Amino acid sequence: LAGQDLAGRRIVISAGGTREPLDPVRYLGNRSSGRQGVALAEAAAARGASVILVAAHLEVPPPAGVDLRPVSTALELQAAVEAAAATADVVIMAAAVADYRPAERRADKIKKDEAGDTFRLDLVKNPDILAGLARAVPRPAVIVGFAAETEADPAARLELGRQKVARKGCDYLVLNRVGWSQGFATESNDIVVLDRRGDIVNEASGTKLSVANCILDVIVQAGTPDHHP
Ligand code: C5P
Repeated sequence: LAGQDLAGRRIVISAGGTREPLDPVRYLGNRSSGRQGVALAEAAAARGASVILVAAHLEVPPPAGVDLRPVSTALELQAAVEAAAATADVVIMAAAVADYRPAERRADKIKKDEAGDTFRLDLVKNPDILAGLARAVPRPAVIVGFAAETEADPAARLELGRQKVARKGCDYLVLNRVGWSQGFATESNDIVVLDRRGDIVNEASGTKLSVANCILDVIVQAGTPDHHP
């Protein structure tokens, strides 16, 4: 058992996948199940942290003993995470956030005869929530991002991760191999944790709960902040 090494820490975790509405019945989404974020919330609570779970369309039940904040779109997730982050020590962005959303949300169902054989959709960029948190002053002491890369080559994935941690300005990046049979919507996971310099500080392969504990170990080793914003 891990003990209570996160007692007194206030941790915000985003989990699941956002949905960006096109019309009253359709959305753009992704295949994130929320399992890894839920496992992080469960593990953090078990280790004594006070956990806020910002949850976008979880396919698994949320753990007991966490403060659950349900959201749907990327903009809703941003508002919920930023509000919770104001009094948090740690933010872990495990959610799969849509990079783009439809430029307009139609009041009525889009009809197939209005577009013809090719339907063009205008999308606008969503804010990068992780990068925004990392730039904020003051900001949570530890900010952790995820990167779900599909490249088969481990060296190429690592290089993409190194670039991403620098671009986003987060403290740690969990690099996750994602494919049709691995990562999203599966029970187990295979990850490495990079620090700000892009160096590997921990790695894990196994259940999403054991991977969660490996990520939390890195946060414990990063130390306890002695001040709060
Ligand atoms: O750039 P990419 O989408 O691969 O980055 C993934 C990381 O950034 C995840 O931690 C995700 O939660 C976060 N993210 C975000 N806002 C976005 C897109 C991704 O915070 N608009």
